[in-house]
Amino acid sequence: MKQTGNTILVTGGTSGIGRALAEAFHDQGNRVIVTGRRQRLLDDVTAGRPGLTGIALDLDDPASLPRVAADVHTRFPGLNVLIANAGISRAEDMSADGWDASTAQAIVDTNIMGVLRVTAAFLPLLKRNPHAALMATSSNLAFIPRADYPAYCASKAFLHSWLQSLRHQLRQVPVEVLELAPPYVQTALTGDSQAVDPRAMPLTAYVAEVMQLLFSGDHPNGEVLVERDRARRWAERDGRYAATFAAMNPG
Ligand SMILES: NC(=O)c1ccc[n+]([C@@H]2O[C@H](COP(=O)([O-])OP(=O)(O)OC[C@H]3O[C@@H](n4cnc5c(N)ncnc54)[C@H](OP(=O)(O)O)[C@@H]3O)[C@@H](O)[C@H]2O)c1
Repeated sequence: MKQTGNTILVTGGTSGIGRALAEAFHDQGNRVIVTGRRQRLLDDVTAGRPGLTGIALDLDDPASLPRVAADVHTRFPGLNVLIANAGISRAEDMSADGWDASTAQAIVDTNIMGVLRVTAAFLPLLKRNPHAALMATSSNLAFIPRADYPAYCASKAFLHSWLQSLRHQLRQVPVEVLELAPPYVQTALTGDSQAVDPRAMPLTAYVAEVMQLLFSGDHPNGEVLVERDRARRWAERDGRYAATFAAMNPG
């Protein structure tokens, strides 16, 4: 990915990792479009940052994406980078009598279909523009699940597999396909306590390491893995899968 001079659209840009990435890319001299549902936060992110634009997008509303895609095609025909980052995370207890598949459905809709739909909406633009790249946010829970977040982990494992196929299919186009697989990071993804959990990686440190990996091209097989990701990513290869699963899922 080029360091500067890109036009980048970030889904899930109103908070957490998406917002921090949007600001870091903007600081590097890129034009950045942030999207999300919360207009107040879109206003907040873009305030005082010329070249950073906020557009409301609800991936769960079928009418929203076509509207945003048409707007972006008109106003930002040079779009060459898509960061499909929006996602939700919810715990589920499948042993409970009242368990149903509604939470899993919401996760599939946002984390899986949301990524596929934004890819379909913006790929035609990316293909037309030089130095094109698409980066989607999976998780290091794609590689070993936390059993209390079953559909969430499975949604990220889906993205890990799907991105490999997309990368292969786009190898001649060319659109660079990257997978961002964060470790546990201080954001409000699962609630306010995560944002201050000392066991989670500080957001600024995470994004600084990601930017360094992106700009140095240090992402073998398109996987953007920070140091903290590596133990889980390679647990199976290194014969530590069962022990790591047991440590993550006590009892
Ligand atoms: N933090 C971690 O520990 C961690 C670890 C691994 C992977 N990840 C992944 O990183 C990505 C970003 O998460 P985060 O940690 O930065 O949490 P976050 O602060 O909660 O960010 C989630 C973003 O997704 C957007 N979003 C959610 N549902 C949406 C929808 N239906 N339509 C449009 N936008 C939607 C939210 O914006 P609005 O609410 O304004 O719509 C928000 O900007 C997610 O894919 C998450 O799974 C996070």
